[in-house]
Amino acid sequence: MYIVILAGGSGTRFWPLSRKKTPKQLMSVFGGKSMLQRTVERVLPLKPKRILVVTNTLQAAETRRQLDYLRGVRIEVVEEPLGRNTAPAICLAATIIARYEPEGVMAVLPADHYIRDEDEFAATLLRGAEVARNGYLVTLGIAPDRPETGYGYLEAETELRGSGPYPVKRFIEKPDRQRALEFLAAGTFFWNSGMFLWRADVILDQIAALMPALARAFAGLTFSPDIWEPADLIPQIEAVYTMVDGQSIDYGVMERAANVMMLPAAFGWSDVGSWGAIPDVLDPDGTGNVVIDTETVVIDSHGCVVRGDKLTALVGVTDLVVVDTPDALLVCARERAQEVKQVTEELERRK
Ligand code: GDD
Ligand code: MG
Repeated sequence: MYIVILAGGSGTRFWPLSRKKTPKQLMSVFGGKSMLQRTVERVLPLKPKRILVVTNTLQAAETRRQLDYLRGVRIEVVEEPLGRNTAPAICLAATIIARYEPEGVMAVLPADHYIRDEDEFAATLLRGAEVARNGYLVTLGIAPDRPETGYGYLEAETELRGSGPYPVKRFIEKPDRQRALEFLAAGTFFWNSGMFLWRADVILDQIAALMPALARAFAGLTFSPDIWEPADLIPQIEAVYTMVDGQSIDYGVMERAANVMMLPAAFGWSDVGSWGAIPDVLDPDGTGNVVIDTETVVIDSHGCVVRGDKLTALVGVTDLVVVDTPDALLVCARERAQEVKQVTEELERRK
């Protein structure tokens, strides 16, 4: 199996810890290792043939630095000159892998998700790889527990019994709230986790059929004999990227493909979309707050998320996010943590 890690997102909701050069995947959101390092370590038990980390040129140096300690593991950092969303990133990785082994199965994994049970995760990927080998586009599905509008929804074709895989009748990317409520009530819908498995040739065929302009842009890529030393690829990739439009694989392929299979994932998952989601994955301490790498004094306060590098005191507050960095401080209502994105937008305007 090949592993393709998508690590080119910008992650503005984790300001002030995340910045352009260090988005969420390069941050140590939970303290300790970064999300990317955790993602790579999680797949090592699967003994992948290669790990391709697809990222933006801006983040490439930091990405390589963070992975430097894993000497001996075959990791390639593939650079994109511009963020063009996930379809071009996946097309690029599939093109490289197909050149080496056309029927090679690749698992596409976001670099910034939380997974609780790593053994179960590895077992699910192995099962998914078996299904993918038969020519399916496999997505790992999560049982929904709220009408989230930021995710894709998968409707299973058959009644859900056992552990799947299930043929997918419909894939609906980011529905509005009304539809999300209907999907949740129906009981036959899963969330798309954004983790996929397919053969390189199968996804390239689907891209050729459903996103022909993207396929055409990549058609001219030529490879040197040692494709894993792709220095000469960089100028070619730059040329290709001037031709491609930004599009996600979800809208571009998954919503319209006929051969999609869903494998339910039971490993405990969160895409940790904002500071507000941290208490979903990290347990609160004895004071009822989630405190990451910070010395605190807590008086009559609970439900807060605290992340900082100096002694922090909470007195009589609830459900706050407090994130302190050397040059910026965030104080935010936990339920409004999604809106932190607007802070970065406002800062952009001020430039
Ligand atoms: N290399 C690269 N280049 N990676 C990218 C790019 C890019 O241009 N854009 C995004 N990524 C990475 C992000 O870092 C993230 O790890 C992953 O691709 C998915 O992108 P998001 O931007 O986070 O997608 P989303 O959250 O809106 O939606 C996707 O994920 C949901 C689950 O978290 C979809 O697949 C949904 O259907 C899904 O429910
Ligand atoms: Mg996401």
